[in-house]
Amino acid sequence: MRIALLGPPGAGKGTQAARICQTFHLIHFSSGDILRAEKMFGTSLGRRIRDFIDNGLLVPDDLMIQIMEQRVLAARDGFVLDGYPRTLPQSQALKRILQAADMPLDLVLNFVVDPKVLARRFEGRRICPVCLAVYHVDTMPSKIPGVCDHDSHELIIRQDDMPDVVRKRIETYQESMAPLFAYYAQQGDFKTIDASGSVDDVTRVVLDKIRRHFEAATAS
Ligand code: AP5
Repeated sequence: MRIALLGPPGAGKGTQAARICQTFHLIHFSSGDILRAEKMFGTSLGRRIRDFIDNGLLVPDDLMIQIMEQRVLAARDGFVLDGYPRTLPQSQALKRILQAADMPLDLVLNFVVDPKVLARRFEGRRICPVCLAVYHVDTMPSKIPGVCDHDSHELIIRQDDMPDVVRKRIETYQESMAPLFAYYAQQGDFKTIDASGSVDDVTRVVLDKIRRHFEAATAS
């Protein structure tokens, strides 16, 4: 299975990608996590992308395509892309790369969330700065408040979850995604998910859509 998740910042792509991967034994590629790790370790790539992330801007396409290409090609047993592609050039490059390797994308799920619900998700999000696990103070709290369940590090607010940067990220998302929706809608295998419900409700809908899609594909 090769699946891509689209949706605005804070829509729950990362949360659901982790559950899809666990259920179907796939590899999770979060472009945001990959970039944040580079930034955290202060690599040369991390230094190049830092200002883009901190200001809610997109990392340039050529760099992003380069970062994702080898990772995706190595995942021959299947993957879930979360946060990639995010622009038309990224989706065209992805298609080219995957087609050449005879491993086309099977399904694109587009998460849609009520803007008021989205705002609450940003406000409550906390992450572990070490293992990058994601929590929410109300909807997905850690067992001990403020402490990561996996490695006991103190949870932090993502730097780009500050209100000004969030506004910029949503604006950037709206500008960059419109051509992408048209592109994937034209190709079929593009499904919209109402992701405004609880984490478990959204998981049920997502897993059901995936199962139905693959059952139908196998039957035809
Ligand atoms: P990235 O990390 O990809 O950010 P994003 O797409 O803006 O998505 P988020 O990580 O904010 O949200 P999410 O949808 O994964 O939601 P989550 O599951 O955490 O990108 C960051 C930056 O990197 C970009 O701004 C850009 O600079 C750069 N970048 C990344 N990819 C790029 C690309 N392809 N090209 C160029 N630049 C790129 O959930 C949010 C919160 O809500 C959590 O607290 C969670 O616990 C909670 N939650 C989740 N689901 C539910 C639910 N159903 N009910 C209640 N709470 C929920």
